[in-house]
Amino acid sequence: MELEYSPNYCLQLEAAYGQGMMSEGGIEGIEHMFEGISLEGKTALDIGCGLGGVAIYLSTTFQMKVIGLEVNPWMVEECQKRLVDKPRDQLDFMLISPEATQWNVSSTSCDLVYSKGVLTHVESKDSVFLEVHRCLKPGGLLVLTDWLSSDEKQWGKNMARLIELENLTIFPENIAGYLNSFKRCGLHVLSTRDDTSTYLKFNREIIARLENPSQRETHLKWFSPQELAAAIEGYQAIVQALETGELKVIHFVAQK
Ligand SMILES: C[S@@+](CC[C@H](N)C(=O)[O-])C[C@H]1O[C@@H](n2cnc3c(N)ncnc32)[C@H](O)[C@@H]1O
Repeated sequence: MELEYSPNYCLQLEAAYGQGMMSEGGIEGIEHMFEGISLEGKTALDIGCGLGGVAIYLSTTFQMKVIGLEVNPWMVEECQKRLVDKPRDQLDFMLISPEATQWNVSSTSCDLVYSKGVLTHVESKDSVFLEVHRCLKPGGLLVLTDWLSSDEKQWGKNMARLIELENLTIFPENIAGYLNSFKRCGLHVLSTRDDTSTYLKFNREIIARLENPSQRETHLKWFSPQELAAAIEGYQAIVQALETGELKVIHFVAQK
């Protein structure tokens, strides 16, 4: 299986989202995701940690012990490099295979498993949720924020344009599909929240940042002029998909 997210593409995502961040919202997005969740001193797994921004923020802000799991070897190496001045016993990053049926994580060892902007890339959520169930302590929480489709379970023209521009594999899944998958894997849903309007704001802010003439010189360090134009078109497609209901951003909290 060919891995997506080249180093150059990820640096462009960081330029748009903030250091270490590969999904929208930066620190504000992280705080919104974990609103009302007790984090201080907890042990957590981050599924699809990307460049480690979320894991590093949570670990340093809430004294959490976080293990980031990633399918891209170069990202795991990059995360390790970014740890130089961080307490190593509190943070680690581990390579997993997208086909793995078991992660190298002890059973019932985690208070919390979370994932931000990742599971849209995974066709079979059950295989992930079964591993989440195994790794969580009884009563432990799964916290997810991800891109979902409308109830029709298919992408429309705006998402098709985004996929064409970004060359990413993303699977349309609806809320009912997630809820059924949680149930099959022994996870009890505590809350489902529609974050679409918040992500509409985040994506509009990204477009304004990328279009800002005073920041153009900085952006051109990471993007060629053509790539910058394509990135802006991609965020415009996301905004249109969110406005029309073709794309939803949904936040789930489920418990073992
Ligand atoms: C949009 S990025 C989000 C990264 C990070 N969660 C963040 O918010 O900064 C999606 C990430 O999911 C990873 N990914 C894709 N398929 C995966 C899988 N099957 N298991 C774990 N991670 C995966 C990609 O390599 C990429 O780093």
